[in-house]
Amino acid sequence: MKITIVGAGAVGASCAEYIAIKNFASEVVLLDIKENYAEGKAMDLMQTASLNSFDTLITGVTNDYLRTADSHIAVITSGIPRKPGMSREELIGINAGIVSSVSENLLKYSPNAILIIVSNPMDTMTYLVHKKTQIAKNRIIGMGGALDSARFKYRLAEAINCPASDIEGMVIGGHSDVGMIPLTRLATRNSIPVFKFLNDKLLSEVAEATKVGGATLTKMLGTSAWYAPGAAVSSLVHSIACNQRKMMPCSVLLDGEYGQKDICIGVPVILGSNGIEEIVELDLNDDEISHFKLSVEGVMRTNSLLK
Ligand code: 2OP
Repeated sequence: MKITIVGAGAVGASCAEYIAIKNFASEVVLLDIKENYAEGKAMDLMQTASLNSFDTLITGVTNDYLRTADSHIAVITSGIPRKPGMSREELIGINAGIVSSVSENLLKYSPNAILIIVSNPMDTMTYLVHKKTQIAKNRIIGMGGALDSARFKYRLAEAINCPASDIEGMVIGGHSDVGMIPLTRLATRNSIPVFKFLNDKLLSEVAEATKVGGATLTKMLGTSAWYAPGAAVSSLVHSIACNQRKMMPCSVLLDGEYGQKDICIGVPVILGSNGIEEIVELDLNDDEISHFKLSVEGVMRTNSLLK
C-alpha cells in the first residue's frame, strides 16, 4: 500500500509519522517543493523506525511526482496555513492554485488514486478538485469533520471530566469557525447522552469552543495546528487503506443528500477501499437542519470566490 503526502510541513509530516507508526502502509512518499525539506523530514522520521517499531518506508522527494507513481491514496496538505486572526477562507487566493496543480500532478502518475484534501479553505478546495479533475466523486474526500469531531470529544471530555475515549460525538457542516455543527444532541458518554452530564450552558460552551478549536490553537501557536490534523488525516487513510469501513464526517460532494447538490460539505460517510463507500443521512432535527442550511450558504459563498 503506497501513500503519498504532498506538503512536508507540520501537518504532512505528522500525518506521515502517524501512518508509519500504525504500520499498515509499505511506503509513504513525502513531497515538498522546498529543496531537500521532505528528504530531511523523511530521514528524521526513518530514524525513529527502530524506536517506534515500524517497517513502513518513508521517502522524501523534492517536487518529483514521478516518485509518487502508483500511489493508492494521496493526501494534499500543501498551501499556506493561516496566521492568528485569519479565517481559513482568506487562504483561497493562494491555495486554490496550489491545490489545482498538485491534484493534476498526482493523477498524472497515480490515475486511480483516492485524494484526501486538507488544504484550506478545505470544503472549497475539495469542491475545486472535483471540478478540475472530474474523477469519480467517491475518490475525493475532504478532511475536516474528523478533526473537528476530535476537538468536540476533547471539549466534552474536559467538561465532563472523563477520558476522551468514553465519548462519541460528531461535527458536521463546513470546516469553518462559523459553519461547524457539533451534534451535542447525539453525543454520548458510553451510550449515555451527554446532556445527562452537562447543562445547556456548558453544552453551548463546548460547542462554541469546538467551532473555534483551530483558531484558538493558531492564536497560541502563531500558525495552524498540526498534531490533531495529522492524526485525523491518518485515521481516514487507515480506514481506506485497510477497508475498515469506519464512519467519519468528511467533506464530500453531495448530489441530493441532505437536500443539497453541487457542494462539498461535512457529512458522515463510510470510508473503505473505494474511498467513500456510502453517504449516511442522519435524522436531523429542525434546529440542526437550519444550522446545516446556513453552513451550506457559507460554503457556497466561499466557493463563489473561485475564479
Ligand atoms: C485546523 O482546523 C488546519 O483547518 C485546520 O486546525
